[in-house]
Amino acid sequence: MKPFSFEIDGLLVQASQNDSILEACLRAGVKLDHSCGASGSCGTCRVWVESGLTHLDTRNSVEAEMAHDRDFLPEERLACQTRVAAGLSLKSPRFKAKP
Ligand code: FES
Repeated sequence: MKPFSFEIDGLLVQASQNDSILEACLRAGVKLDHSCGASGSCGTCRVWVESGLTHLDTRNSVEAEMAHDRDFLPEERLACQTRVAAGLSLKSPRFKAKP
């Protein structure tokens, strides 16, 4: 599959099909916190999905457990546990406070 792009905090990021959001962001030089090293235990990589939520896979078991424990809204996703999709528009937590 050809590379595609998505947006985070107004920046366009190139990605490949099996990239996590975190992998694609870090490769593009977008600073996204990831204190636990992408093991899904810290929550610091949480991003807010502004558009394209339906393009994402459902939460894996690691993310689902944290989402349940921390009362995530559907738009809140862990960048390290979520595979990127074309047409996404995301905000990092420093740009979007939880409503
Ligand atoms: S980097 Fe820790 S949960 Fe994603």
